[in-house]
Amino acid sequence: MKVVAGTSSPLLAKRVADELETRLAKTTFKQFPDGEIYVRVESEVDDEVVVVQSITSSDDLITLMLLFDALEKSTITAVIPYMGYARQDKRFYEGEAISIRAVARFIESYADRVISVNVHSRNAAGYFRKLEEVDAMKLIGKYYKEQDVVMVSPDFGSLERVKRAAKAAECEFDYLEKRRIDAEHVEISPKNIDVEGRSVVIVDDIISTGGTVVEAARLLKASSIEAACVHAVLACNALNKLYAAGISRVVATDTIERAVSNISVAKLIAKAVKA
Ligand code: R5P
Repeated sequence: MKVVAGTSSPLLAKRVADELETRLAKTTFKQFPDGEIYVRVESEVDDEVVVVQSITSSDDLITLMLLFDALEKSTITAVIPYMGYARQDKRFYEGEAISIRAVARFIESYADRVISVNVHSRNAAGYFRKLEEVDAMKLIGKYYKEQDVVMVSPDFGSLERVKRAAKAAECEFDYLEKRRIDAEHVEISPKNIDVEGRSVVIVDDIISTGGTVVEAARLLKASSIEAACVHAVLACNALNKLYAAGISRVVATDTIERAVSNISVAKLIAKAVKA
C-alpha cells in the first residue's frame, strides 16, 4: 500500500504513511498559465492506494479528481481530513445546489472507501454511502488534560462535540446562551457555569472567519480565553482577528495544515485505514 499526498495535505499524508509504515508516492503537481491543474503520480503504485487530500478550496477538488484519474488501476481509499463544502448541506433557497451531495457523489464515483474527520453535520455525512468518520474531539480534550480550564461550546448545537472533548480533558463544560436584554442588546454567557476568573477554551469543529469565537470572546468575562478547533479554515485573516480580540492561543488539528495545527490526527486516520 502506498500513500499519495495531495497538495493540501503533504505533512499529514507523510505522518499517515509513517504510521502505516509505508512510503509516499512521488508526484508532480503543476499549474498551467491559464490556471489549469496538472497531476502526475510518478511512482508505481500497488493495488491499494491511500490518497490524502483535504478539500479547502475548489482547486483541491480538481486536484483530487485528477489524482483519482491518475490512480484508475488501484483500489482507492480517499482520506479527506477536512471535508469542505459540507456547510451547504441542504437547500436553503429554491434552486440552490446541495454542494456536499455533489461532492459526495463525485468522491464515491472513484473511491472504494472514504475516511474523513468530524464532517460538519449529520446531514452532510448522510449523503455518503462509504464514509467512515473519525472523531478528533478526544484529541483536543487530551491536549488540555490536567489543565484547569472550562470548555465552552459557542452554541447548543455544538455541545455534544464539546462534551466529548471535555470528557477526555476531564474538565467542566458548558455552552453559550444568547439572552435578549432589550431590542438593541443581547447578552451571551455560559448557561450554567460562572467563568469569571477562569480559563476558558472555546471549542468548535471549524474556525472559518473567526467571527463566532470573536463574538463569544468579546462577551465572556473570563481571565483568559483560548480557541480550539478540529478544522482551522482561518479565512479572511481570521488568526489576526482572533489574537486582536484577546484570544491568547489558538489550537487546531492538522486536518488543515496551519501554523496552529499542533495536534495530529495521523494515528486516528491510520487506525481507520487499517480497520
Ligand atoms: C457552525 O455551524 C460551525 O460549527 C462553526 O461555528 C462556524 O463554521 C464558524 O465559522 P466562523 O469562524 O466564520 O464564525
